[in-house]
Amino acid sequence: MIGFTLSFPSLLATVALLYAVYYWYRHRNIPGGPRGVPFIGYAPFFGRNPQDKFLTFKEKYGKMFSIYLGPRLTIVLNDYEAVKEAFLGQAEIFSGRSPGFVFEFLSLGEDGKTHGILLAEGEKLKKTRRFVLQSLRDLGMGKKRIQISILEEAAVLVDIFRKNADQPFNPLPTLTASVANVICALSWGRRYDHEDEDFKKILSGFDIIPTFLSQASVLLGYPMLRHLPGKLRRSWENLVIAVRWNQKFTDGIIEEHINEYQEGEPRDYVDAFVKQQRAEVAAGVDIENDESIFNKEELRKTVGSFFGAGSETTTMTLYWAILFMAHHQVVQKRVQKEIADNIPMGGPVTVEDKAKLPYVEAVCREIQRCANVTPLGVLRCNLEETTLLGYRIPKRSNIMVNFLAIFRDPALWDEPSRFMPERFLDKEGKLYEPPFFMPFSIGKRACIGESLARMEIFLFFSNILQNFNILPCEEFPLPSLEEYTTGISCRPLPYKIRLTTRETDPFHRV
Ligand code: HEM
Repeated sequence: MIGFTLSFPSLLATVALLYAVYYWYRHRNIPGGPRGVPFIGYAPFFGRNPQDKFLTFKEKYGKMFSIYLGPRLTIVLNDYEAVKEAFLGQAEIFSGRSPGFVFEFLSLGEDGKTHGILLAEGEKLKKTRRFVLQSLRDLGMGKKRIQISILEEAAVLVDIFRKNADQPFNPLPTLTASVANVICALSWGRRYDHEDEDFKKILSGFDIIPTFLSQASVLLGYPMLRHLPGKLRRSWENLVIAVRWNQKFTDGIIEEHINEYQEGEPRDYVDAFVKQQRAEVAAGVDIENDESIFNKEELRKTVGSFFGAGSETTTMTLYWAILFMAHHQVVQKRVQKEIADNIPMGGPVTVEDKAKLPYVEAVCREIQRCANVTPLGVLRCNLEETTLLGYRIPKRSNIMVNFLAIFRDPALWDEPSRFMPERFLDKEGKLYEPPFFMPFSIGKRACIGESLARMEIFLFFSNILQNFNILPCEEFPLPSLEEYTTGISCRPLPYKIRLTTRETDPFHRV
């Protein structure tokens, strides 16, 4: 028998060599990118706004690049062509969702399994999306029915704004409550007084979640870090409390609603769900089966994702919209003139007026392009290994989109840094939307709330501008439009404006 001993240095050399071979094999032909720190990855170098940093990588690495978020390989799509090729060209393969500890926590049912649309994949995703989209369509999304709820909410908002006219005013709390109320109406057919204590408690929970939902955080790779003593742990504990409280509140309402259910035309999403659930049971389907999308856990979690995905995004778009108007007085006057010329005095602006208000529509789109409220989208993953633009993408890599690279690409937009709503109008002055305008993303996981969000943005925005002038206030200088902070959404710096009611405005009906 031949004796075989390995000295410590040669053992080390062998391990290093094996690791080098493994590293080479794992990374062969993947897109290049900055490597960051071993085990931690690139997240510590992102700064406050990773999308800005990523934009600078376009020159060096091209249409996409790779980074590590902790141990997770992440491919960042940094160009329209890369996003189109992945999300439309290989739609099925890129339809996975990267879990992340916050999404897992939010999707965890009482049975210890994940439920709802956010993390669904494969057949379950298809079934869920089909049902959600069909139900939202039937409930009047993008059409008339949900408009009644939005206009009711817009009237309350205008009232609150009016009470705060002629003084420094932060519109954020009112916008947050109004947008959340639309989702309550959609989900279970009820709205809440903005001062209702339970409602206020729910809204305060919304503020905590975005801290943890940053798409480009080292926490995604090493979620255990949230348990280290300090600020992160405290926020995590607050988030757990807020999410549990919100879940208990919504569970109670859903339960109540189910008990009150009456056969007939569904009034809201819970009704539509219960109706289909009963039909499935009557047809002998086992709804407690893991693949069924009609058990109660699926309902609880999908309704939760309407709030999670639909509140902050829409609220922030409107919050940006007001700041943009305070900065761009000439655009504001043109919006008001188009409304005044086309809408009878006294009546609210409605969806039916859209065709008469192409400039207002163009301004809404330009605000979305410039504000870029979901700058890194929601992390996806590829369900199998594939090749994208000639590079290998290993199975289940994180896939992240840098929407800033699309919205600020000079090859796609004239003077992309300028706020110029006319870019969304054609030569005849009609609304024109290019395919690379994609604030709701594209493909098999694109936003399911797009029609609702577009409707909310149009109705809240136009009704605010019909009633008020938005002015900077001397006591609180406006923050620049180029400054923002990024969590799951991109927020402007906090600001206050001064509203004047339009009846007293000398320019009214110019
Ligand atoms: C301005 C407002 C909004 C913006 C900018 C926005 C944007 C997005 C984006 C970028 C995604 C990720 C898509 C992808 O993975 O490719 C998404 C997903 C989603 N959005 Fe929205 N959204 C908005 C409003 C809403 C509203 C009002 C709702 C619901 C009522 C909603 C519900 C969802 C849901 C459930 C998903 C996950 C879909 C899935 O995983 O299949 N969103 N949204």
